[in-house]
Amino acid sequence: MPADLEGRAGLPEDLRFLLAKYPREDWQAHDNIHGLASMWLERHDMFREIGALLEGAIAEHREGKTTPDAFARFFAPRLRFFLGQLNGHHAIEDEHYFPLFAKAESRLARGFDILDSDHHVIHDALDRNADAANAFLRALQQDADARRFAADAYADENARLVAMLRRHLADEEDLIIPLILERGIGM
Ligand SMILES: [Fe+2]
Ligand SMILES: [Fe+2]
Repeated sequence: MPADLEGRAGLPEDLRFLLAKYPREDWQAHDNIHGLASMWLERHDMFREIGALLEGAIAEHREGKTTPDAFARFFAPRLRFFLGQLNGHHAIEDEHYFPLFAKAESRLARGFDILDSDHHVIHDALDRNADAANAFLRALQQDADARRFAADAYADENARLVAMLRRHLADEEDLIIPLILERGIGM
């Protein structure tokens, strides 16, 4: 399926007509970027930053640069924040913004169905991520082999989640920001 989150390289061609009119490099100079569009992009950047922070912390820990205790103290609250904020963000999009935007431009409605289905795929990945993270944090109290095994399993799960998230955030921006710029949609 071309719209599959882990298989696609961007939005399908028929959903890119507004993006062609408002390419990414022109967004910041547009008057309608202020308000909702900026808020959206900042929120997404925060998710990208925390995703990278978590990936970096895992990599450092696997290289032996942090003790299990120091790693757990740094990692656990940030992961909890990340997962919780993502859940909240997706809920507002699904319940409020996607229906609003799909109504504003019916030719893009299929795009919002794709983004909505991404959210389900990401939610399953969030559940797996939380399970793998808990197993990993528990394994920090065990021997070196158990720790390495759990670290590898968690790092794989996390890399997959972050890759999905990057694709989703970029495609969502490509669909929504041009629409906001075109229509001047506020909060
Ligand atoms: Fe989303
Ligand atoms: Fe989003």
